[in-house]
Amino acid sequence: TWTMKSFVESAVASIREQVGDDQVICALSGGVDSSVVAVLLHNAIGSRLHCIFVNNGLLRKGEAESVQRVFRDHFSINLIYADASDLFLERLKDVTDPERKRKIIGNLFVELFEREAGRLESVKYLAQGTLYPDVIESVSFKGPSATIKTHHNVGGLPERMNLKLIEPLRELFKDEVRMLGRELGLPERIIMRHPFPGPGLAIRTIGAVTPESLEILRDADRIILEEIEASGWYDHVWQAFAVLLPIRSVGVMGDERTYDQVVAVRAVESVDAMTADWARLPYEVLQRISNRIINEVKGVNRVVYDISSKPPGTIEWE
Ligand code: XMP
Repeated sequence: TWTMKSFVESAVASIREQVGDDQVICALSGGVDSSVVAVLLHNAIGSRLHCIFVNNGLLRKGEAESVQRVFRDHFSINLIYADASDLFLERLKDVTDPERKRKIIGNLFVELFEREAGRLESVKYLAQGTLYPDVIESVSFKGPSATIKTHHNVGGLPERMNLKLIEPLRELFKDEVRMLGRELGLPERIIMRHPFPGPGLAIRTIGAVTPESLEILRDADRIILEEIEASGWYDHVWQAFAVLLPIRSVGVMGDERTYDQVVAVRAVESVDAMTADWARLPYEVLQRISNRIINEVKGVNRVVYDISSKPPGTIEWE
């Protein structure tokens, strides 16, 4: 649209003016916000932008490959790819408390991001995809709800590394960021992408994270997304995903008794994640999801659908 076109022009101009001849780093997650920031910055300063993508091993199936394909191969953005899956898994060993998981993941992320950034010379700026609602939330949320879940970001890093912040999305709402992404030529599947939490599949494994739990979640998650996409529901739901429960239940498979794990399917509608309602997915879609998970994902013999709204439930289970 016209407004987004002029937004891009003025954002590019002000980024160029601010950055001068210096180098900029940004943490790329593959989500809408950081993707838009990366492409916008790349338009403004080209190869003086360095994106760092940390694979924490808690991502969806194919995610690490897809981020490299889009940003390095398609957009020719300087991309540093740090695969730290084993390290994250090691530090998360036997950890069950949700907030401890978040802390461990957040701290390790910052540690690795800092290490990678430290290898680059003359970096003066850190670009971040802070949106208007993030700005509002961080000033108005003073109650106990502020500490219910600590959202993962690179807090403290700009000061320690003596970096100045560039936040070109600070005045935008999510739908405006999507319009901006379209204007910048980002693929529709990134623009319409559901949000995915920084701590990833770790907070969708209730209990301790293991290589096995991650494999189950990746496979179940892929099935859920495939069916939601095939049914045309993807753009109507805010998020849809699998949660692996730490309990076993009895089932039958052929002549055999099984005693396997339970996957909960969560699909919600929302406009800003502050409130949400469970999606009224058609029974046929739920049926296909359930059949496929039980038949295709080893170790799972039961699928349940979460019909809790937020509040009082949250979107994630941890
Ligand atoms: P809840 O579960 O609080 O989630 O209703 C609201 C939105 O935030 C996402 N979420 C997170 N995102 N780090 C993130 O980057 C986190 O620790 C985190 N916890 C929840 C969640 O996926 C939903 O979109």
